[in-house]
Amino acid sequence: MSEKNIDEYSGRETTGHEWNGITELDTPIPKAIWVFLTVATVCAVIMWILLPSWPLGSTYTKGLLGADERETVKKNLTQANLVREPWEVRMAKTDYSDLKNDNELTTVIMRNGKRLFEDNCAMCHGLDAKGGHGYPNLIDKQWLWGGDPATILETISIGINSGHVDSRASEMMAFGRDGILNVEDRKNVIYFVQSLSNNNISKTVGDEVIAAGAKLFSENCAVCHGENGKGQTELGAPNLTDPFWIYGNDYETISSVLRDGRQGVMPFWSERLSLPERKILSFYILKLGETD
Ligand code: HEC
Ligand code: HEC
Repeated sequence: MSEKNIDEYSGRETTGHEWNGITELDTPIPKAIWVFLTVATVCAVIMWILLPSWPLGSTYTKGLLGADERETVKKNLTQANLVREPWEVRMAKTDYSDLKNDNELTTVIMRNGKRLFEDNCAMCHGLDAKGGHGYPNLIDKQWLWGGDPATILETISIGINSGHVDSRASEMMAFGRDGILNVEDRKNVIYFVQSLSNNNISKTVGDEVIAAGAKLFSENCAVCHGENGKGQTELGAPNLTDPFWIYGNDYETISSVLRDGRQGVMPFWSERLSLPERKILSFYILKLGETD
């Protein structure tokens, strides 16, 4: 190979190999590739020295920096637990009345309460907790089951008609469908119920209708809704004399409630949310009601 083979078209040296009259140019590898390969190799060597890299049987080269993702995660977790523990302990000891003098606590509860409420409750009770048809308003200070912090916490934990062993049972009977009251009786009692929150009704339908309705109410409804119609929190029977309605107070709505009955379902949260989370929610609802 002492003789140089020069390609006559390009004037470049060839490798001397020839295939069917085609010769191969001896083109050097471009400089840019050499530079790239050199830099990459140098970087790799530096990384091997600094970071964990080569496996050595049961261990590995640890690197000069001593970096270890697993250790970092472990450290972060321990720190998170340290932060959480006193917070949960603190929540267990906190009463609703404590919020009054503790702005920091109130801020934390409102922030976490909002997140918990949006994730778990808003689809039924609305983002503003004001409910909707069939879903009670939670901040109108009118309670089906009672509005002290412990009772609200209990309602959230065990639910209503929820299938939980201790669930609250809400049972508005189907007076029409089950043949307890005929159409005429139902009409009278509906007008009486409307008259409890609207003085003008008796003028429209006459005192006799209201009197007949009152008698039927006392015989059929007062056990649960109370003689005066103001409801009973032990039974979850709503107050029928105030302007707050789960389903509505127009004639058609009350008529359908009386005909078919109602058994509103509120899921139980004792298994899906921790006790501190449920407690935060009960405080959150109360606080929203206070400021509304
Ligand atoms: C699937 C729909 C649904 C979801 C989700 C839901 N609720 Fe309810 N909730 C109801 C219904 C329906 C009632 C009323 C039941 C009835 O008619 O007796 C109710 C009642 C309540 C009551 C009782 C109100 C009173 O006046 O005593 C509270 C408190 C309550 N919900 C809080 C919550 C909280 C907090 C969450 C989220 C953790 C939540 N609810 C999620 C449907 C729901
Ligand atoms: C066994 C107890 C019980 C009896 C008896 C009963 N109710 Fe109810 N009633 C309830 C409960 C509980 C609810 C709430 C149902 C729910 O949403 O789960 C309710 C709901 C209602 C509502 C809907 C209120 C709203 O806010 O929309 C009306 C109206 C009503 N009852 C009228 C009557 C009338 C009139 C009678 C008598 C003919 C009667 N109820 C008898 C327990 C009772």
